[in-house]
Amino acid sequence: MSSKFISPVLCLLSVALSSGQEVDYKKQIAPILSSKCNSCHTAKKRETDKKPKAGLALDTPGGIRAGGVLEPGDASSSELYVRVSLPKTDDELMPPTDDGGPLSAKEIALIKKWIDDGARFSSGSGQGLGEIAADLDVAKVMAMPMREPNADGVAHLEGLGATVSQLAVNLPQQLAVEWISTYHKTTDKEIEQILHIAPNVVEVDLSRTKVTDEGLKHIGKLARLTHLNLSRTQITDKGVAHLSGLRYLEYLNLYGTGVSNDILPVLAKHRKLKAVYAWKTKITQEGLSKLRKALPDAKLVLETDAKSNRYDNLDNPDNKFDF
Ligand code: HEC
Repeated sequence: MSSKFISPVLCLLSVALSSGQEVDYKKQIAPILSSKCNSCHTAKKRETDKKPKAGLALDTPGGIRAGGVLEPGDASSSELYVRVSLPKTDDELMPPTDDGGPLSAKEIALIKKWIDDGARFSSGSGQGLGEIAADLDVAKVMAMPMREPNADGVAHLEGLGATVSQLAVNLPQQLAVEWISTYHKTTDKEIEQILHIAPNVVEVDLSRTKVTDEGLKHIGKLARLTHLNLSRTQITDKGVAHLSGLRYLEYLNLYGTGVSNDILPVLAKHRKLKAVYAWKTKITQEGLSKLRKALPDAKLVLETDAKSNRYDNLDNPDNKFDF
């Protein structure tokens, strides 16, 4: 539908733009959205009863991500582009014809190029993020308000191979971070960069990465962490000791690591723990039954359960925490 409409002028513009530099979200895209879209699509409600149209807030990166209107790398499959590139007569055109639509050909071409280039919200270089404070600790992170995540921090992590996703459409502040496809080249150095978005991280999957006991110091600062997957990493008891300040930890996967019964007193203090997966470790059935006394309601798994082969399915990212 939209391809029929694209005019020669627009095609020429796209060509001209594509030979140039990457489109900058802050300088080139945000101003279009703010002047042409945000009168209707904003999460910041001026009047108390106002909600963003179609539940879509276009005034922050988090709102745009959460709206499900982007297919990074493919503008023609992205609702954000499709809806601005419709013919004038189409009543799905955004902005609506009697409310400022359509956008100019240049604005449409910019949005197209930005999405086709990956819909990045920052350069991802990490420049301008600043240093991670050397004295950052779990208490300081806990004291930080949980606001919209730092878009540059998210883009920076993505540039280092992480996948950063929102836990839910209506919870843009809560992020899950994983290195599912780049685990083999993920070391403590990359993992440390997670601290740029420390107040927002609630789930981390480090399975099969090269994380070491030292690297878990960084993870031990993620005060709001509820889910941690360390399966098939080289971590040992020393590393787990760094997690002792994580008061909200609910799920801990230690499958295939070097941990032993010595960590059980540390785990016993995590009163919120709902599940610990510890098969193929040095933890024994005896040790675990002691832990069971401290955490009577938690699911403590020492062996893969023949009844449910689900435990073998760790490679399926959909199951990452629901073993
Ligand atoms: C005058 C108010 C208004 C303006 C301005 C406006 N929109 Fe919308 N938009 C709506 C309404 C109402 C809907 C829901 C009805 C519909 O889908 O057509 C909507 C729906 C959408 C959808 C579909 C959302 C979905 O989940 O299906 C997208 C994408 C969208 N708008 C993008 C934009 C963009 C981009 C701009 C600016 C270039 C913009 N809109 C400007 C009112 C507006």
